[in-house]
Amino acid sequence: MTAVHSDRELAEPHLRGWLSSIGLDVEYVRAEGNTLYRRAEDGREVPVLDFAGGYGSLMLGHNHPAIVARAQELLAARTPIHAQFSRHPYANEVANRLNRIIRRELGDDEAFSAIFANSGAEAIEAAIKHAELDRVLRAGELMDSVRANLAAVAPGRLAASEFERIARHNASVTARPPLFLTLEGSFHGKLAGSVQLTHNADYRTPFSALAAQARFVPFDQPGAVKEVVDSARAVVLDVVVEGGEVRVVERDYPVIAAFLLEPIQGEGGINVVSAELAGEIQQACAGLGVPIVVDEIQSGMGRSGAFLASSLVGLRGDYYALAKSLGGGVAKASVLLVRESRYRPDFELVHSSTFAKDAFSCHIASTVLDLLEADDGRAYRQAAELGEKLAGALRAVRADYPDVVKDVRGRGLMLGLEFHAQTEASSAAIRENAGFLGYVIAGYLLQAHDIRTFPTASAVTTLRFEPSILLTDTEIARLHTALRAVCEILRTQDARGFTTS
Ligand code: F0G
Repeated sequence: MTAVHSDRELAEPHLRGWLSSIGLDVEYVRAEGNTLYRRAEDGREVPVLDFAGGYGSLMLGHNHPAIVARAQELLAARTPIHAQFSRHPYANEVANRLNRIIRRELGDDEAFSAIFANSGAEAIEAAIKHAELDRVLRAGELMDSVRANLAAVAPGRLAASEFERIARHNASVTARPPLFLTLEGSFHGKLAGSVQLTHNADYRTPFSALAAQARFVPFDQPGAVKEVVDSARAVVLDVVVEGGEVRVVERDYPVIAAFLLEPIQGEGGINVVSAELAGEIQQACAGLGVPIVVDEIQSGMGRSGAFLASSLVGLRGDYYALAKSLGGGVAKASVLLVRESRYRPDFELVHSSTFAKDAFSCHIASTVLDLLEADDGRAYRQAAELGEKLAGALRAVRADYPDVVKDVRGRGLMLGLEFHAQTEASSAAIRENAGFLGYVIAGYLLQAHDIRTFPTASAVTTLRFEPSILLTDTEIARLHTALRAVCEILRTQDARGFTTS
């Protein structure tokens, strides 16, 4: 046997050094509710208050007792977890429950078909593929009818040069690659397709040649959506015969495959889409029949105070992607819901995954939905109320330190606190780390206050707070105190504060 040197770091070996340089290189050994326990050097377990919440996947906290019990029960019963290509009543159960919740929230009677996947980015890949299949089929139907109309033109009724012009124009339009629209600041995943819909250029541009491209619409700039949609519009040429006359007409050709958006942008800095922006997107897409894909992977499952954050701004999606808390912090699960009138049954023949729709994650997802829906949706009310309290604490910090804190944003238990950039800081140590400000602060909060949070990775001056609905007043007060300490360091520009614990 080959000896494996246990000291050598081989799992993403470079990340660890980086974590270590900012004080985040700790190992957690146990977790419950909003608390993670790390092992101190003397072997003791040290409780750490967790506001990162598994990147927003722990709406019900770490290891919720009812979810753990259900997982144990499933394993004890030897439930067949992987029985691919057979009946999956448990997946159907999840799909039906999601339909009932969404129907209630949107006041919309149309059913949604469900495609299961394993991670958030995978659900987005499914959305990209489904939207493209739908686009290709719609384009095919349109071009079949154009060809039939051209073939039906009586000889001599249209000049040969006109036939040639139409053929040339149509060939160039139909050769165009699909275009996806999304918002500046968006994050839809890091797989080959989804990363092209993620705004952060560092993540996206090395892989631009791998997949369809997106155009990024400015956030909250009135009129921008219509402008981009109009500029991406394309027409093919068709003919109509009226009273023996042949007329060349334009037909909208589907170049835009879909418009994707997060109702509350997560990784891009906790930016809430307004009802006005939602309305502009809705209107612009309706005009061209472009499907709207609502990425509720982070904002959904009740975190905003409603099951779908998009329902709070009156957005009506054609597709919804859910993940993160769907797995209750125990399973890995995601789902793409597609409105029935948009659904292409053939998709089921061309898209699948070994692990998607497995019994374990579906049963866990059902338990999660039980817990969220219990007591007439108490979990949603808790997310709204606790979110208001937490936002109140963040706003109080901002009120006392307006020179340090620029903004507080978000909804429910998806909140962000943005610091003023420190690129011009008088302290050289703070200035030199300005590009990692949120990480430096996260390292300090962990080391000095036993509090875990992160910056939003594409907007590193914003810290994100996504605790579970088990959040207590005492936990909010602890965060409040710790953030005031951060502000004091930044106000006094005493960088030593960040390194002493
Ligand atoms: N969409 C949104 C809105 C997300 O927040 C994420 C992940 C994804 C898609 C991709 O999901 O990681 O399961 O493949 N967000 C993480 C974050 C990375 O930082 O919040 P995934």
